[in-house]
Amino acid sequence: QLITSTNCLLLSESVFQFEFECRARGADILAYPPVVAGGNRSNTLHYVKNNQLIKDGELVLLDGGCESSCYVSDITRTWPVNGRFTKPQAELYQAVLDIQKSCLSLCSPGVSLENIYSLMLSLIGQKLKDLGILKSSVTESQFFKAVRKYCPHHVGHYLGMDVHDTPDMSRSLPLQPGMVITIEPGLYIPEDDMNAPERFRGIGVRIEDDVVIAEDSPLILSADCPKEIYDIEQICGRSS
Ligand code: GLY
Ligand code: MN
Ligand code: MN
Repeated sequence: QLITSTNCLLLSESVFQFEFECRARGADILAYPPVVAGGNRSNTLHYVKNNQLIKDGELVLLDGGCESSCYVSDITRTWPVNGRFTKPQAELYQAVLDIQKSCLSLCSPGVSLENIYSLMLSLIGQKLKDLGILKSSVTESQFFKAVRKYCPHHVGHYLGMDVHDTPDMSRSLPLQPGMVITIEPGLYIPEDDMNAPERFRGIGVRIEDDVVIAEDSPLILSADCPKEIYDIEQICGRSS
């Protein structure tokens, strides 16, 4: 139920609609104040004002989760409010999605969140080069400085009765079957970043799934919530 309650993400444009849909599917309460950020506001990590109109042509980033029987979810999806990604939005989105899938494939016993974070940093740096946001000739220290600038948060955290469950637990611990974590890479290009190509400025993307570590392949609890560009455009087209 926790999971199905997130299926409304792509249909809702408001915090109230999101909370209603979660509760209608059996959630007790929201897990935290959701982020519903349009356009450049998605580059503010904990944006929760949620009081601005989202303009035609902008992406909307929704980071939301709910609580059921004391356990919480924490999921992010980013989609074009008018139902169609522009080319730069699609390029940035696909880069984050590729990175997220690579990080998900590393979620197995014995690997730590820190290990997955290291992979994410390298992959982000490579994508920044591919997209022309970072010069291919940068030194190693410039590389990691740029990566942290465009993704100033960790790849994920433990998830349970609290959203960060708990911050005291080291991310260096080897993951074990039954543990639940989030995987949430993002790329954030502020509109006033004169170092980034103009077409990417003002775009922020994060994709976050909830994952149960298992002996074989990880169980992605939020797998029903679409994240492929094709699926998102189909759904947004249908609902508009
Ligand atoms: N919603 C907070 C986080 O993603 O960690
Ligand atoms: Mn999270
Ligand atoms: Mn989140």
